[in-house]
Amino acid sequence: MKPFRITLTVLAFAALASCSTGNDVERRIDKLLSKMTLEEKLGQMNQLSQGDEAWMCEQIRQGSVGSILNEVDPAAINRMQRVAVEESRLGIPLLPSRDVIHGFRTMFPIPLGQAATFDPDIIREGARIAAIEASACGIRWTFSPMIDIARDPRWGRIAEGFGEDTHLTSELGVAMIEGYQGDETSGNATMAACAKHFIGYGAAEGGRDYNGSPIPMRTLHNVYMPPFKAAVDAGAMTFMTSFNEIDGIPSTGNEYILRDILRDEWGFDGMVVSDWNSAGEMIAHGFAADDMDAAVKAVNAGVDMDMMSHTFIGTLAEAVREGKVSEKTIDEAVRNILRLKFRLGLFENPYVDEKYAAEIQYAPAHLAAAKKAAVESAILLKNDGKTLPLNSVRSILVTGPMADAPHDQLGTWSFDGEASHTVTPLASLRRMFGDKVRIVYYPALMYSRDKNKGNLARLTAMARSVDAVVAFVGEEAILSGEAHSLSDLNLKGAQSDLLRAAKASGRPVVAVVMAGRPLTIGRDLENCDAMLYSYHPGTMGGDAIAELLFGVEVPSGKAPATFLKDAGQAPFYYNHNNTGRPASGTETLIDEIPLCAGQTSLGCTSFYMDSGFGPLFPFGYGLSYTTFEYDGISIDKEEYGQNDTIHVTFTLRNTGDYDATEVAQLYVRDLVGSITRPIRELKGFQRITLKAGESRECTFDLPVEELAFMGFDNQTRVESGDFQLWVAGDSASGDPIPFRVL
Ligand code: GLC
Repeated sequence: MKPFRITLTVLAFAALASCSTGNDVERRIDKLLSKMTLEEKLGQMNQLSQGDEAWMCEQIRQGSVGSILNEVDPAAINRMQRVAVEESRLGIPLLPSRDVIHGFRTMFPIPLGQAATFDPDIIREGARIAAIEASACGIRWTFSPMIDIARDPRWGRIAEGFGEDTHLTSELGVAMIEGYQGDETSGNATMAACAKHFIGYGAAEGGRDYNGSPIPMRTLHNVYMPPFKAAVDAGAMTFMTSFNEIDGIPSTGNEYILRDILRDEWGFDGMVVSDWNSAGEMIAHGFAADDMDAAVKAVNAGVDMDMMSHTFIGTLAEAVREGKVSEKTIDEAVRNILRLKFRLGLFENPYVDEKYAAEIQYAPAHLAAAKKAAVESAILLKNDGKTLPLNSVRSILVTGPMADAPHDQLGTWSFDGEASHTVTPLASLRRMFGDKVRIVYYPALMYSRDKNKGNLARLTAMARSVDAVVAFVGEEAILSGEAHSLSDLNLKGAQSDLLRAAKASGRPVVAVVMAGRPLTIGRDLENCDAMLYSYHPGTMGGDAIAELLFGVEVPSGKAPATFLKDAGQAPFYYNHNNTGRPASGTETLIDEIPLCAGQTSLGCTSFYMDSGFGPLFPFGYGLSYTTFEYDGISIDKEEYGQNDTIHVTFTLRNTGDYDATEVAQLYVRDLVGSITRPIRELKGFQRITLKAGESRECTFDLPVEELAFMGFDNQTRVESGDFQLWVAGDSASGDPIPFRVL
């Protein structure tokens, strides 16, 4: 009996150790902290990117490294972890990290594409799969989700977030955090999430990356903060500061956002990491005089760990001795770091099974989920004459530089995605439909920037020999992402010419766009009968697009960011304020302006003479192969108290020929506030799947408290008054229903 008793005891201890409660963790931190030298504390605050392993191991052995990033080889991570745990003085495990942004090996659509699904479940599942694949290799911290609101498609990192809307970004950011962290963060298949970039990075002036973000205080609170607050409430274990400044203060040195808001108001007890050298870059900003000044400003503002500026490890011991930073501040930072490591179970389970790490990548269930996400992320922007689905064609010409582009299809931030595993549209069309449809392939352009028009005449001639043309255009992966801003959002190279050449054949033309942002594709719409916008759809994009083209799947994606007519309209977003002179939509545009027109003859409203006011396609827009109608939209009362919930009911009808999914959207407008309010704000959405001809009673329940905002007195509350509410298939449709809040 004795062995059994021993086993039971051992199991009990292991269970106790692995599921340390909060108090146990704090006691373990206290005990460890009391043993640490100042140098060892600063070592925990130092994050280093993968480099020469022997040198890294020596730094780790000396206790000078708390976290490593960009190492993805499980054997190398195990080797460095053994040095930390078994050879350093205190045996504190390393925290291996990586930008696992939209998948690790199995690549999901870029986050902007995932946002087009309006489906938190598929995003949670994708993050869960990313955590399984990455944590198997030893990566226990990802720098994701990026929940920066982006209202300007010139900014290359619009690809990496969830678009322009605060509510959608909040909901999807939480789903991603839940996916990464799982139910029990100390479990093996979990990673700490990182809510980034705190804050306002997406408002870079001019859409030019790293530029200052001119965000007024109330807009900061009402538009940019809610997704981060939702991240704290969802238990995000880490935050990352942003490169940008707001009103002269770089986020990495901004005590108001990092301590007053994040810690004191929101109660965040996780860990804050700087962005890559963002501490050191405060010198270039002109906010810090030198490395020590930068480190002192960062750590006093509330940054716990320094990513790759080396200023913390290099200067803070001296800064403490000079009294510029208290050891109490250092201890607080180290406490946050150790708490994260305890919560991840790294002290109990620092190593990974290298064999399992190899086996779990690209599991069939992972690929199936990635395909589902790619199907749901595609937006049908145009479908004249029901060109799609291609049910009746017997032959197609597949053309364009993105038809068979395994690297570029993965999109930006796909460090660990492998092009060799990418399923391209050409491969899928051949495999899935090649026995029923003659598939001719002629790319005509070699890559998205290819300016060579020499093949277009042949393209036109070849198109005349088939029933339809499917042209895959868009952006190479490198044309979006960090530091990849664009001032011109038209299709690059000769891609628009390619569509024109295809159209000249007289055959139906389907354009499929793979891009990292909403491009200005207005001029291309006249050269195609249908357009499917799939962003960069990831590893399984080919199968997803092939099934959408032939009606096996039906498009359900909705625009998470406005499609502009022209880059000159940026920044543009649906939830804008009305101004005192809102556009009427009847303004005289430049080609109709009479000669010698009098100065005031055109009217005085807020619009562009050349591109009018409205967008090409609004936020929330997306077609289907079927049609949907919204009937009987009603609310349960005319007046609501502050603690009430608005109960909205409506009937959704599938009035077409295909079983399909609609994303019903709930919008609200506060007609008069102590400050001006947006003309619409998304407050709810749901995916509703109906069979052809089916109709269903549906509901939204909206607590009145969700109408709160920071008003004139900088207090956040729901202001009484008149409101309007819409239920529709996009942000520009539907009829308003009035109600009052008392
Ligand atoms: C980059 C990015 C940040 C990323 C970090 C580590 O510069 O701004 O989002 O997580 O460095 O790669």
